[in-house]
Amino acid sequence: MNSLYLDLMKKVVNNYIYLGTNSASCDKRYYSYPSWLIPRTCLPHTLCNDQQLSVLEKIMEYIHLEKIDGDFIEVGVWRGGAGIFMKAFLKEYNSERKLWLADTFSGIPMSSNKFEYKESVVDSWEDRWEASKHEVITHFERYGLLDDRVHLLEGDVSKTLFPAPFTKIALARLDVDSYESYSDSLDGVFPHMTKGGCIIFDDWHLESCQKAVKDFIKRHNIQSKIQHEFMGIRGEAFLIV
Ligand SMILES: C[S@@+](CC[C@H](N)C(=O)[O-])C[C@H]1O[C@@H](n2cnc3c(N)ncnc32)[C@H](O)[C@@H]1O
Repeated sequence: MNSLYLDLMKKVVNNYIYLGTNSASCDKRYYSYPSWLIPRTCLPHTLCNDQQLSVLEKIMEYIHLEKIDGDFIEVGVWRGGAGIFMKAFLKEYNSERKLWLADTFSGIPMSSNKFEYKESVVDSWEDRWEASKHEVITHFERYGLLDDRVHLLEGDVSKTLFPAPFTKIALARLDVDSYESYSDSLDGVFPHMTKGGCIIFDDWHLESCQKAVKDFIKRHNIQSKIQHEFMGIRGEAFLIV
């Protein structure tokens, strides 16, 4: 399924179109680096690089073609770019699915003592990846993608997903960094996943993410296996439920 619109969107949401130009102070080598090395001055709407967006697109195509029932959700939205790409896909394929966007819209919360895991990395980050709800809404509007099927869930996921305002989820993109945020996100989203649906874990490079996911899988005796490649494209990590 080739879409010039989605190809262009992939290049816009992460500022690929400005790479190497002075105005963006953005060096093209960052495009293939792990996404979190993209400098702030580059002002992308998402930290996802081309490969991550391509895997996301392939997974959305699979869900569409296989008619997996349910909405899409991104948990951990930052400036909204990955969610914008998900909404662009839904628009391109005239889909009625809703898009849920869950975030504090004020950055990653510090961990509490709720879990035994001691957060060593994420809690030490100075940058909490803050972007306001207003900023995300503005970005969606600029792309012409804000409609009544886009729902923003503002607040800590430990609250906004309990009870969940959705019933069925076909695709969940989790991008929340810390152990606690991943654990809470999975607790909130997993019971709503439909068979054949997919959960993407954006932060597999972080111990906090891997540990939270593995602990959740063990706790719930989940048989599906974590995968790192979809239709020949290597991605971060995902689980087909
Ligand atoms: C690295 S950013 C997400 C990047 C984004 N998905 C993208 O494509 O660029 C992490 C986001 O997770 C959110 N977040 C982390 N923990 C959260 C929690 N417990 N509840 C709600 N939002 C959370 C932060 O506010 C931040 O916007």
